[in-house]
Amino acid sequence: MTSALQLEGLGKSFGHFRALHDISLDLQQGEFLTMLGPSGSGKTTTLQLIAGFLQPDRGRLLMKGRDIAGIPAHRRNIGMVFQDYALFPHMTALDNVAFPLESRGIGKLERRRRAEEMLGVVNLGHLLDRYPRQLSGGQKQRVALARALVYDPEVVLLDEPLGALDKKLRTSMQLEILRITRRFGATVISVTHDQEEALVMSDRIALFSQGALAQVGTPKELYAKPANAFVADFVGESNLLPAELTRAGGEAVVKGDGWLAKLPVDRLAVGLADGQVTLMVRPEALRLSAGDASPVAQRPNSIEATVKQVVYLGSALRVHAQLPNGSIIQIAVPDVRSLSFVPETTVRASWDADDVVILQA
Ligand SMILES: Nc1ncnc2c1ncn2[C@@H]1O[C@H](COP(=O)(O)OP(=O)(O)OP(=O)(O)O)[C@@H](O)[C@H]1O
Ligand SMILES: [Mg+2]
Repeated sequence: MTSALQLEGLGKSFGHFRALHDISLDLQQGEFLTMLGPSGSGKTTTLQLIAGFLQPDRGRLLMKGRDIAGIPAHRRNIGMVFQDYALFPHMTALDNVAFPLESRGIGKLERRRRAEEMLGVVNLGHLLDRYPRQLSGGQKQRVALARALVYDPEVVLLDEPLGALDKKLRTSMQLEILRITRRFGATVISVTHDQEEALVMSDRIALFSQGALAQVGTPKELYAKPANAFVADFVGESNLLPAELTRAGGEAVVKGDGWLAKLPVDRLAVGLADGQVTLMVRPEALRLSAGDASPVAQRPNSIEATVKQVVYLGSALRVHAQLPNGSIIQIAVPDVRSLSFVPETTVRASWDADDVVILQA
């Protein structure tokens, strides 16, 4: 099957600054991909290359197998929603949505019919004649989405469309956007700073770091099998502990400062060498019990720590505990009533060998 959109080794510099290097991605028809990454890592630049507002220095862009290098932005059949919505302030919601149809040579009556229909889809059928200043943030966002979808684009690009909304509206808009874009079968690339949003919405996530892709995969892959410490740290919360790896027969022995982990060698990533590594364990993979000061060798897959803070999160507790070397680990305690540890008690945090990931240091 031909991909809906292919990015092949895209590179872009601004003067001497290399904003993007070697970005390669393949999107299937109807796929929802989220671009995630720190500020300045190249997400917007990538969207602008796809939209045609910027030209790449290197690499190729293909839509349905066809090189789109020579095709100007307005003829690429790509819909885009910007962070600030970029609605025309002097036009009503209806005229805003009808606007892209005009530049595509569609007649007045048909423009009105399709714009009305699309505003109905985003549940704004009753506010056709409002101007942007008379709309709430979420409503403006939906007008912008309707405008991006009204000409039935093959690819929809969303650059932090929910950035300005409060948490509750964000969550409902996330589901709304999924519902609408799925209904149109559109291929979507969405940029966000909110990793929870990325986990909820995406078929796949592309995580950017300094103009390159750190990892591309399903939310589950990035969460459970991060390629490196950057990914582990960026997607979800993680405890990262420096350690030394040695293999002994079928067993991998990971030795840290006052703790020891053992796991089957086949759980290690291919190509991971003995020596300095980082052990990653998620807060929810740790179980707390009373400290017992037993020798390290007798208690593999656990670590002793001192409780420093117990944070109440409503549905769960989060324990911050300090290791002998001073670093802090986090432990998620799902049952709010179960915790009997107060600050300054010594605890043992244990994990299953299956729940840790050993990363290149
Ligand atoms: N027109 C430009 N001229 C010079 N540098 C630019 C230009 N556009 C972007 N950059 C630089 O390229 C890098 C990537 O910018 P980009 O806007 O793609 O980041 P981003 O990942 O979208 O960040 P954010 O999350 O803050 O929106 C940044 O260092 C930025 O300063
Ligand atoms: Mg940006």
